[in-house]
Amino acid sequence: MKTGPRGGALVSTTVPPVTNKYLSYDEERAPKVREMFSRLAWRYDLVNDVMSFGMHRAWKRRTVRLGLAKAAERAARRRWLDLCCGTGDMAFLAERFSGGAARVVGCDFTLPMLAVARKRRGEEESVSEFVQGDALRLPFADGAFDVVTVGYGLRNIADPAAALAEMRRVLAPGGRCVILDFGKPRNPVASALYNGFLRTMMPFVGWLFHRDPETYLYIPESLAPGDDGDQCRGTEPGIGKRETGNVGRGAQPFRFPFSVSPFPNAR
Ligand SMILES: C[S@@+](CC[C@H](N)C(=O)[O-])C[C@H]1O[C@@H](n2cnc3c(N)ncnc32)[C@H](O)[C@@H]1O
Repeated sequence: MKTGPRGGALVSTTVPPVTNKYLSYDEERAPKVREMFSRLAWRYDLVNDVMSFGMHRAWKRRTVRLGLAKAAERAARRRWLDLCCGTGDMAFLAERFSGGAARVVGCDFTLPMLAVARKRRGEEESVSEFVQGDALRLPFADGAFDVVTVGYGLRNIADPAAALAEMRRVLAPGGRCVILDFGKPRNPVASALYNGFLRTMMPFVGWLFHRDPETYLYIPESLAPGDDGDQCRGTEPGIGKRETGNVGRGAQPFRFPFSVSPFPNAR
């Protein structure tokens, strides 16, 4: 494990044992991820609702609101990149919550996911653009965006630290980046229950919708031991504040399934 500029843990360089066919920590990672999302694109939105009991919608809304930030700053947050946009959920939210002021670009490297996003544009009455691009070589100029959001994307990228550097490059001075990903409960009992839930529910949902139990099992496998779900803690100066979501009202030990890691004022 490397350490960051402030002594925090950088993205783990320890390679955990891998058994899932869609997960690897080598040059095969990107093609495997793309293959997996190509296969599940047409059912992605439905499966998200089923697996999270619809809660992913609230987590995405919170992420986008963090991107918009305080009312006084909103007017300045016009150029918006939703990286690893998938089928476009957060891009459409950014457009809606900004009252149409944000010019939103969704970027993803899996064409079938982008095809679903483009199809949804009509239903959403959206003018967002959806472009194909790799998070490790973004097809945008330096400082092109005021906000970058990433939902459940960073953990899929072969080199998350390099992706963070790219995100930083395309952010304008004073820009804001908000990253949404899986969290992990700190309480050991809640952690065991959460893991049990993921390891039972994921193969079932994979089998039900794709006749392939391994499809979503990469999620608990990619939640490596020691990884608290904060994909970017310590990787870039300015990252640190972290918010953790709560599934049940007031149930402290069960504060688990997502974390939002903003790095405001990236430069
Ligand atoms: C779990 S989905 C998240 C989609 C959407 N953000 C959401 O929250 O519903 C992850 C997405 O990341 C994309 N992705 C993974 N690695 C990528 C990369 N290197 N460059 C661009 N997109 C990538 C995948 O194609 C997939 O659509």
